[in-house]
Amino acid sequence: MELEILIPRDTILSKVKELAGQISSDYMDHEPLLVGILNGAVFFFTDLIREMTIPLKIDFIRAASYGNGTSSRGSVQLTKGIEIPIQGKHVLLVEDIVDSGLTFTHIMQFLKKEEPASIKLCALIDKLERREKTVCIDYCGFQVDEGFLVGYGLDFNEQYRYLPDICVLKDPR
Ligand code: IMP
Ligand code: MG
Repeated sequence: MELEILIPRDTILSKVKELAGQISSDYMDHEPLLVGILNGAVFFFTDLIREMTIPLKIDFIRAASYGNGTSSRGSVQLTKGIEIPIQGKHVLLVEDIVDSGLTFTHIMQFLKKEEPASIKLCALIDKLERREKTVCIDYCGFQVDEGFLVGYGLDFNEQYRYLPDICVLKDPR
């Protein structure tokens, strides 16, 4: 399948640094818990954490919403929960891409029951094409109108995650 570079690695990394700077200053005295959403956000998450300049903790959560192909199945399942207690803590979810918004909405509902002091979202990409649920992205890297993206952690049927740039996949099924 044909790939076209949409966001080159250098551009990604300077944006990641900018986001880490904003988050570090906003959470200065809060020792936030940054929660990476597996698997896609792992590359973004680890680059972001390395640019942070304040004390923080990390954990991971995993949700499955996509089967094969490029569209959401519409139902979201949590397949791994977080392990650090979040009651009274400041939680920042870190996601690779928000598309329909179903995954984030589901995770948010689940975590809110644990009564964190605050819960916000940082997403590398805000993809507007298929939004179904209104999502407030507190820290957003890039807005993209449409297209199926791969690379820098993003996959198509588990392929292409290793690519350094974010690319558009031409003619996916
Ligand atoms: P949502 O529930 O539709 O918002 O989708 C969120 C999840 O779908 C993301 O965490 C990604 O794993 C996946 N996803 C959505 N759009 C893309 C894309 O363009 N490329 C790769 N994965 C995507
Ligand atoms: Mg994901």
